[in-house]
Order: sequence, then structure tokens, then C-alpha cells
Amino acid sequence: MKIKEIGKKIKIGIDKIGFAMPKYFLDIRDLALGRNENENKFVKGLMQSEMSIAPVTEDIVSLGASAAEQILDEEDKKNIEMVIVGTESGIDQSKASAVFIHHLLGIQPFARCIEIKEACYGATAALSFAKNYIEKNENASVLVIASDIAKYGIDTPGESTQGAGSIAMLIKKDPKIAVINDENVCQTRDIMDFWRPNYSNFPIVDGHFSTKQYLDCLVTTFDEYKKRYNQDLCDFDGFCFHLPFPKLGLKAINSLLEKNVEKETKNKFLEKFHTSIIYGKRVGNIYTGSLYLSLLSLLENCDSLKAGDNIGMYSYGSGAVCEFFNLTLAEDFKNHLRHDRLNDFDNRKQLSINEYENLFFEKIILDNEGNCDFSNRKLIQESDNAFVLEKVENHKRIYKKIK
Ligand code: HMG
Repeated sequence: MKIKEIGKKIKIGIDKIGFAMPKYFLDIRDLALGRNENENKFVKGLMQSEMSIAPVTEDIVSLGASAAEQILDEEDKKNIEMVIVGTESGIDQSKASAVFIHHLLGIQPFARCIEIKEACYGATAALSFAKNYIEKNENASVLVIASDIAKYGIDTPGESTQGAGSIAMLIKKDPKIAVINDENVCQTRDIMDFWRPNYSNFPIVDGHFSTKQYLDCLVTTFDEYKKRYNQDLCDFDGFCFHLPFPKLGLKAINSLLEKNVEKETKNKFLEKFHTSIIYGKRVGNIYTGSLYLSLLSLLENCDSLKAGDNIGMYSYGSGAVCEFFNLTLAEDFKNHLRHDRLNDFDNRKQLSINEYENLFFEKIILDNEGNCDFSNRKLIQESDNAFVLEKVENHKRIYKKIK
């Protein structure tokens, strides 16, 4: 049975989607040069071209609030009853980033705000909670934000896969972009492929083991999905994957295309795949937002997509939890997206390798009273985002609306 025919319940899904990234980027070829690597290892081997670099004045709160500010109007802010931020680069062990974001955006006060964590899987769990909430509260909206800064450290194997950015999604009934369908399969494996202990600024990574786990979780989860729902490749019009680097997504789609799949079908999926990596190639890994950045890239750049198409979604968070689920594109989805977003990428400022090292790894240095003031830094004037971190006062982070 076709996915869209199952169930006559209310349709819940993504009504609006926004994306914010910092002003700065590093060309991956400059990184290769700086690390004495053949540039083709990064350009062809990982299929990466640029990395988005966040300065000290842009964190997961300012980026998350900026992504949401692009899409929300005053009516939305009155209807949001829950804000969930998925992140693994949080700014506080206790207070949820969603609470800061709720305040910065001026969302009505009677809302629940939480932060959720399971590596890159967090935002997918958030979508599921949002859907469950709206099933019981039909007129409510939920704001789901996926916000991360992926930092592996200088001269590490993961350095070429770093990135920074936030996706914001408004979830409600009768969505204008895509319906989140009911079918899904999750899988959990207690493995140590990528983790960050509280005492460490950077993750500890078993890189090759992590890529094997990512692919094996995909194949086994998709097999289970096909069995449970009696579906196959022909029930899908395209796929989006969590993209730690685009080449792993290419391996992922190839592992789904069975050997006996016709050339035409293969090309159809591969053409869509290549549009789904356009943004990720220029941003890098943004952890929990990365799957949704591929979705945005596919929706805004693929001319052959149409209303009613089903998109298979593979979410993977190290540790590990993964999920395969699917979306159906809404009637008028194309009119609720941007078609000039590539200009934002072209308008960023390119950094040299030295500038990147100084900017990305700058630490907040507090005085004895727990203060640090960035208000005179050029970084704040240069930002194109709506919010920045202006200062820390008595250990409290103070954000400023600049646009
Ligand atoms: P590495 O070991 O330095 O690289 O780092 P490599 O030697 O495996 O080379 C990479 C690719 O470049 C290979 O392609 C080479 O053949 C190719 P493949 O064989 O795999 O197709 N290559 C070249 N190609 C053309 N010309 C050349 C050339 N040289 C080499 N001259 C590694 C790779 C993935 C280990 C590293 O980037 C890393 O540790 N990354 C971080 C971990 C990661 O991204 N894991 C992905 C799965 S886990 C996940 O997705 C979760 C995550 O997002 C975190 C979370 O959940 O929170 C990471």
C-alpha cells in the first residue's frame, strides 16, 4: 500500500523551515594544503568543498534563534506551545538552550522548552515528540531546532568534516512543506564510535568504525522497515541521509540501490541525491541538523520533485541510535521555500587557514567576576544573523538582536 494512503488521521509535519550559518568559511583545499594532504582526499574522497566556521560570538543559541527568526511571524509565536532544541554542542549542562531561544524570539510564555541529546539523532527524536504532542493538541505548533557546531580539533582526522549551523522547523497540522508519516523504525546499538566526555572539548572518534556502523545500521534498519510495512524502493521518490560528509551519503544511497535495480531508477535516485548534498558540501557536518540541511537542499534545488512524493529519511546519531522514516511532500511545497539561498553561501567571508585556526578555536576568557565583552568586536558587526552572543556577565551569557 502506498504510504500516503495509510491512515486518515490529521496530517502533521514541517510547515516552515529555516537555516542559519555563520558568516565565515574555509575552503577545504586550503585545509588540505595546511595539513599536507592531497586536496583530492577531501574534495573527492569526502566530497566536501567548504566548511562553515563559527566565531566565538555565534553559538548554538544565537544560530538556532537566527534560523527560527527567519521563518516565524507574530501569529506563529502566539501558537508555539513547545520549543525543542536538539544539540550535542550545548552551552550549559543545566539550562536548556531552548529557554534562551524562547525568550529571544518572544514566544508566548505558556510553552514548554527543552533540550534533547543523542548525538546527531536528537532533532529526529524532537520531530517525533512534536508530532505526538500535536496529535493531542491539534491547534498547537512546536518549534524544533537542530543546532550544532562540529569541532574535532586542529590536525585531527575529523578536522575536514567540521561545520556549524542551525535548522529551525515549525511543526503543525496541515503543513505547507511535508507531512511526517507514521511509519518508522529505530535501532539502538551501545557502541563507542564517537563520543565526547564532559571533560573534553573535542569528541573522541573511531572514524572508520563509525562509518561502518552508520552504513550497517542503515541497511539493517531499512530491511526491517521494508518487512514491517511491506514497502520497497518503489515506494520512495528520493532519500535524504545524515551527512557527516557527503561521500558517506553516496555510499548510503548505493547500499540501498539493490543490484537488480534498473539504470533509470538508479539515476533517478542519484540525481536527487546530488541535489541533497549541495548545501552540506559547503557547510560541513552540522551534526543533528545535517539530515535536515540535506532535506532543505533537495527541496530547494531539485526540479523533478512534486507534491505527493515520498522522501525516505535516514537519521544516525553516534553511540548509536538511528531511525528510518518518511515524509510526503505537501501540495504547494515549492512556494514555501527559498530559491536564492545559494547567494547566502556566496556572500560569506573566506578565511585563511591561520584566520580559521584563530577564529574557530578561540576560547571565552572570563575575568575574575565571570565577565567577557565582545560588543566592540568586528565579528558582531559582520554577522548576517539576527542574534549574536554579545557578552558574558557574571557567568551569564547575554545575547543581542542585531537585525
Ligand atoms: P581518514 O581516515 O583520514 O581518511 O578520515 P581515509 O583514508 O579513509 O580517506 C577518506 C576517503 O578519501 C577514502 O575514500 C579514500 O579512499 C579517499 P573511500 O575509500 O572511503 O571511498 N582518498 C582519496 N580520494 C581521491 N584522491 C586522493 C585520496 N586520498 C584518500 N588522493 C574519517 C576519514 C571518516 C575516518 C574521518 O574524516 C573522521 O574521523 N571523521 C569523523 C567521524 C565521521 O564523520 N564518521 C561518520 C559516521 S558517524 C556519524 O555520522 C555521526 C557523527 O555525525 C557524530 C554524531 O552522531 O554526533 C560523526
